[in-house]
Amino acid sequence: MMQAKKIAKNVYWVGAEDFNVRSFHGYKTGRGATYNAYLLTGEKTVLIDSVKKTFTDEMLQRISSVTDVKNIDIIISNHAEFDHSGAIKTVADISGAQVYATAAGVKTLKNLYGDMDFHAVAAGETLSVGEFEFAFLPTPMVHWPDNMVTFEKKNKILFSNDAFGQHLSSSNIFDAEISLEISLAEAKKYYANIVMPFAPQVKKALDAAKSLSPAIIAPSHGVIWTKHIKDIFALYDDMTSGKKLDKAVIVYDTMWGNTEIIAKQIGAEFERKGKQVIYANLQTVDRSDLMADIAEAKFLCVGSPTLNATIMPSVAAFLNYAAGLKPPALSYIAFGSYGWGGGAIKQICEILDKAGYTKLGEVGCIYRPENLNLDFMDGIE
Ligand code: FEO
Repeated sequence: MMQAKKIAKNVYWVGAEDFNVRSFHGYKTGRGATYNAYLLTGEKTVLIDSVKKTFTDEMLQRISSVTDVKNIDIIISNHAEFDHSGAIKTVADISGAQVYATAAGVKTLKNLYGDMDFHAVAAGETLSVGEFEFAFLPTPMVHWPDNMVTFEKKNKILFSNDAFGQHLSSSNIFDAEISLEISLAEAKKYYANIVMPFAPQVKKALDAAKSLSPAIIAPSHGVIWTKHIKDIFALYDDMTSGKKLDKAVIVYDTMWGNTEIIAKQIGAEFERKGKQVIYANLQTVDRSDLMADIAEAKFLCVGSPTLNATIMPSVAAFLNYAAGLKPPALSYIAFGSYGWGGGAIKQICEILDKAGYTKLGEVGCIYRPENLNLDFMDGIE
């Protein structure tokens, strides 16, 4: 039987490890994922969030290692997305528990699962349950309109849901038990691929979290922050501030190697100017692995050969994904080789112009990249 893991007195992790998952709706999860649910016991029993539906039995086993599922009095749902709400209806049916969520959360949960004993909570509202007192802070768009975080005052635990999460499956549930380099890298990747489009709202959530001075941050994915709270706050400070590094990310596909030659020449020019250059051939690099670098890069270069008068499908998918995540303030270069009519460079520019980025220049060649004119890069500082 799966066991609960204690995180504080009468507070347990009862989530699930999805160590096999490698795609989270298009986000490559090389280290798997966890769905974190938390159980608080005592005079009353509280469940905070749940797991993806297919992991319901695993969560029920972990809860049962502490108490009977029927004893759950209250379910707090910080976020109605399927990876956190998938087992709520099952627990509510077994226990008759009341379900607390924001008004938007109640609406979504009702839509997804039907009637339960719902209670909508407002910003700043508190709830005393047994020896615990909870404060609810709505954090809309971090990551859906319904999101909130819940602060448990006795142990100063912030149940932050998607905020401060990482896709990282480990039997070690605390940050102190795994490499800080890995947990922060995964937190950065998570930020860039999940919540980056909502940076202003994330900043508000970050400021609210800091003001609570939590001793423990218990997110809904990945490790629980206890030792490195300052580090995860600093990472979110950097990411939400739009801080930029002297870095160029060169993303491309290539048909016969000519677009790759242009990529290298553009990269050499950036290197000559002292910039860090990251090359990414989309035939081998996953787009989700690029977003953290693009978020903090000053320059994005996108290249594609012309295929059927437009861009390669891999480049189209990348541009669609990247533009949707809205990385801040980029200057871009479009490039590619073509045989006769061209079309790819124009298409790249249209997409990046529409996304609001600043064009530095474009460079193309007919078949072979000879005598490329990169004069437009002279002014780059
Ligand atoms: Fe992990 Fe927005 O759900």
